[in-house]
Amino acid sequence: MKHYSVLKKEAIQGLNLKDNSVVVDATLGYAGHSSSILKSIPKGHLYAFDQDKEAINYSKDVLGQIANNFTIIHSNFVNMKEKLNELGIEKVDAILFDLGVSSPQIDDATRGFSFQSDAKLDMRMNQDDSLSAYEIVNNYSLSELIDIFYAYGEEKLSKAIAKCIVNSRPINTTRELVSVIEEAVGKKYFNLHHPERNIFQAIRIEVNKELDVLTKVLPDAIDLLKSGGRMSVITFHSLEDRIVKKIFKDFSEVNEMVKGLPSIPDEYKPKIKIINKKVILPSEDEIKENSRSKSAKLRIIERI
Ligand SMILES: C[S@@+](CC[C@H](N)C(=O)[O-])C[C@H]1O[C@@H](n2cnc3c(N)ncnc32)[C@H](O)[C@@H]1O
Repeated sequence: MKHYSVLKKEAIQGLNLKDNSVVVDATLGYAGHSSSILKSIPKGHLYAFDQDKEAINYSKDVLGQIANNFTIIHSNFVNMKEKLNELGIEKVDAILFDLGVSSPQIDDATRGFSFQSDAKLDMRMNQDDSLSAYEIVNNYSLSELIDIFYAYGEEKLSKAIAKCIVNSRPINTTRELVSVIEEAVGKKYFNLHHPERNIFQAIRIEVNKELDVLTKVLPDAIDLLKSGGRMSVITFHSLEDRIVKKIFKDFSEVNEMVKGLPSIPDEYKPKIKIINKKVILPSEDEIKENSRSKSAKLRIIERI
């Protein structure tokens, strides 16, 4: 299986792992990061989440060849706290998020993530979910489409594209959708700006509720960390990075409501310390080796 783990060394170094660390990999994928983590924690335990059955089936075998001190959990990471509590885990030493979709998911044409190959409209990371790209493209109202294209795709011509989609229904495949987008914006704009990238990103975010689950899970993940515990988060687009940056900023500062008080109650004190003031980006060599790493950003925090 061809895959490449982005910012692997930097993200894992940031976790400050010890022999006996208890670690969560929120996004197991094809076990690139998890394999390195497992090798660093011979007396610890790895809890790895993924919502994609294919990724889990593959990675179970990969990790099994390294050690047996791991547990794979087939679930959306939004349920992280609840799932770990069910297993009797209240606190952990380190958590990693490597967000988005994996290269094998994009490369598998049948999953419908790619605008470069033809497939049924799908884009579900979790094959058991009911909402797919097909429902969104064919059943959402004009205004719902416009809203998600602006918000999650930041596409200037969202209105024209949404109108053309509604008028072209039913749309069954990724290739049909790309043609409709091209028809809506004209060849010149299409070739210059590639709006299909933005529209596919918007639909994928909506199908998987990517920004909602990220916003919900980060405070839970911060709560799960022991004092001194670390978290590394790798994002792939500015919408995700903005959420991570904002939540980390909020949790690293004294709550506005009590700023200036002579003594600050514990619950309003900063919960985390930001480890890298400047976001960490892939090196030029990494970008050369894997062009998909181009937009990656890593942020690391430590629980106080
Ligand atoms: C970029 S890949 C991770 C690659 C992995 N770090 C590696 O080295 O192979 C992201 C993975 O996270 C999973 N994923 C994304 N969002 C998720 C969520 N909300 N809950 C559970 N898994 C998620 C995807 O299914 C995908 O397999």
